Amino acid sequence: MSLNVLIIDDEEFLRRSLADFIEDLDHRPHLAANGQEGLRALAAIHPDFVFVDLNMPVMDGYEFIARARETAPELPIVVLSGVGLVEDAMRAVRAGAWDFIPKPVTDFAVLEHTLTKNLERARLLRENREHREHLEEMVRIRTAELERTRLEVVHTLGKAAEYRDNETGNHVIRVGNTAAVLAAAVGLSERRCELLRNAAPMHDVGKIGIPDSILLKPGRLTPEEWEIMKTHTRIGYEILTPSDAQGPDDLCGLAQAPASDAPNALLALARTIALYHHERWDGTGYPCGLVGEAIPVEARIVTVVDVYDALGSERTYKEAFDEDTCRRILREGTGTHFDPRVIEAFFANIDAVMAIRRNWRD
Ligand SMILES: [Fe+2]
Ligand SMILES: [Fe+2]
Repeated sequence: MSLNVLIIDDEEFLRRSLADFIEDLDHRPHLAANGQEGLRALAAIHPDFVFVDLNMPVMDGYEFIARARETAPELPIVVLSGVGLVEDAMRAVRAGAWDFIPKPVTDFAVLEHTLTKNLERARLLRENREHREHLEEMVRIRTAELERTRLEVVHTLGKAAEYRDNETGNHVIRVGNTAAVLAAAVGLSERRCELLRNAAPMHDVGKIGIPDSILLKPGRLTPEEWEIMKTHTRIGYEILTPSDAQGPDDLCGLAQAPASDAPNALLALARTIALYHHERWDGTGYPCGLVGEAIPVEARIVTVVDVYDALGSERTYKEAFDEDTCRRILREGTGTHFDPRVIEAFFANIDAVMAIRRNWRD
């Protein structure tokens, strides 16, 4: 293969004789008289190999090497150094040169060997980088695939839970999207908002474990039935707990949202929400009776969004309320059922909330 070889030296005779050597090896020599010309040639012809002198007018070899390295880390640069000036050669190597050969260059074999050796080094560097880039690309693709699969599983699970009284599955999408809007409004980080968007749809996954006779009962539930209905929070928590994880004995003792950078943060948050989305601000909710800010904020947000959305939707046991009634119920529940700060965020973002309702209509 014929290579572009850049020769930078202020001595014309040396340039010429080196160029002859290069031509004899079937490569194409390009000549420059100082570092500055060398940099121009570098940008213009993208050489495969560079020989550079050290002491030159205008721009010396050290500066050329340092500057060339900024844009061409894998380019073989070999210094032509005067005999006995090992110190200079070492300084050039520190600046980024790979090798040096003593001047005058009289031995064809030495030149050829230097070329071959440094081209090999360049090849290895390039292959190594390409291999690394390929691996990184593979990891990126696989990670994206995993993430997609995980989200699909999550949404399917959420849909399955609400399928019996909300066949389109849009309720859980509205809840996720609206929760993300409110989360941003109360100041949660972008990452936590995204986690919430994807975790919130699983809030009622525990309903899978509630018998149809109770879940689909058109009339009022008896107190016993109601107690069973309430267990969907704990069942949801358990469904979302990995089978190899040892659950805590007291679920109510761990009322805090997981760190958003924790491994499996999505499932952990979904678990938290499943467990606490029926807590109430004044402490009269279930299953734990947590009060105020002891309830994780993500769960407080889902509570508001879920109630609002359910009020405005038709269910087996009820008609849809009109928008005014839904909003009035939210206002009336502020400070008792709902976190006032979340309600404030809700009304401050009512346009975005309504847009989500429109886009994901049943
Ligand atoms: Fe629920
Ligand atoms: Fe729901």
